[in-house]
Amino acid sequence: MRILLMLAIHLSHELRQSGNCWYLRRPTFFLYFPLLKALTNHNPAPIEMLPSQTQCPAAVAILGAGSQGRRIAYMWSSTGNDVHLIDSQPAQLQASVEAVEGMRQQFKAIGSHGRIHTHAVEALRGALEKVWLIVECVPEKLSLKQQIIAQLDALAPEGVIIASNSSSYTCTEIIHGLELAHKSRVLSAHTYWPPETTAIEIMGHGETNPAHIETMMKECGEHGFTPFQVKQPSMGYIYNRIWAAIKREALFAAAEGAATPQEIDAIFKDILKTAKGPFEQMDVVGLDVVLDIENHYAAARPGLPVKPREYLQQFLTQGHLGVKSGRGFYEY
Ligand SMILES: NC(=O)c1ccc[n+]([C@@H]2O[C@H](COP(=O)([O-])OP(=O)(O)OC[C@H]3O[C@@H](n4cnc5c(N)ncnc54)[C@H](O)[C@@H]3O)[C@@H](O)[C@H]2O)c1
Repeated sequence: MRILLMLAIHLSHELRQSGNCWYLRRPTFFLYFPLLKALTNHNPAPIEMLPSQTQCPAAVAILGAGSQGRRIAYMWSSTGNDVHLIDSQPAQLQASVEAVEGMRQQFKAIGSHGRIHTHAVEALRGALEKVWLIVECVPEKLSLKQQIIAQLDALAPEGVIIASNSSSYTCTEIIHGLELAHKSRVLSAHTYWPPETTAIEIMGHGETNPAHIETMMKECGEHGFTPFQVKQPSMGYIYNRIWAAIKREALFAAAEGAATPQEIDAIFKDILKTAKGPFEQMDVVGLDVVLDIENHYAAARPGLPVKPREYLQQFLTQGHLGVKSGRGFYEY
């Protein structure tokens, strides 16, 4: 009886909450389950009170299987848990599955690989029944983000955390004016370029449940991300504020003809010893995404120079979106 009591106390420290569901860390579960089972053969009451791991969804859903969605899918499936990818374009779903497979061959997983399930948007509700977290990864348009967050709040079971991966719209801006049933579960979870760059910034709005922030910090850390919490409401994430200034000034210098993108990248890399210059990095991100983000900053901060955006627009007009279209500032 005393042993059982001690075990129960220890296990209570190992119990974790995900959404409205309690479960054991996988290693703890496998370590203690046989022991508990043997001991409780005499008295099954304590084990019946502990929900089994299979009762709690460990899977994650991602809405939008583009440049970021597929990378996030790789990360959340890298410890053996399933990921549900939802996209309005079947071709994007197919390309995502191939991209995840490519990453699995290139990078070492933390554990075993979870399955990637793909769904059309019509199957969104069903996919949400199976997860503890849904991350929206649709294009950087505020009205679209708002429509998606409202839809997710209406469809997802109450305990499911709703995260936005938006680069330039904070969850505070996205939920502004929305009537949500459970807005305390909405937060921002902004990735960079996983699995190569594992930083993820977690930021709540004024009414985000602190337990959800804590869960995200912990789960992200256990799935290969390097989590940072933005502790105060901020116009942009910690790194993005710095990066926004760098790319704006780099575009400005190129627009004025002070130097070519190639020269700016070369001097930047030579001095700061980075692998990529700002133009190479913008090509990776996607020039359409870069312009959307710039437009957003410009709207929020009057007085920003217009030349960087005009310069960027010239590339978009010619259909040069960066790596994803085969040409941006460079050819791919
Ligand atoms: N590209 C980056 O490096 C980067 C980095 C960090 C964060 N982000 C953020 O991630 C988000 C997505 O960016 P991305 O670069 O992956 O965009 P993307 O254009 O590559 O992918 C967006 C995906 O969303 C799908 N989609 C569009 N509308 C949809 C809808 N209504 N329902 C379901 N799917 C829909 C598209 O088919 C596409 O596959 C943006 O908010 C962006 O700010 C991007």
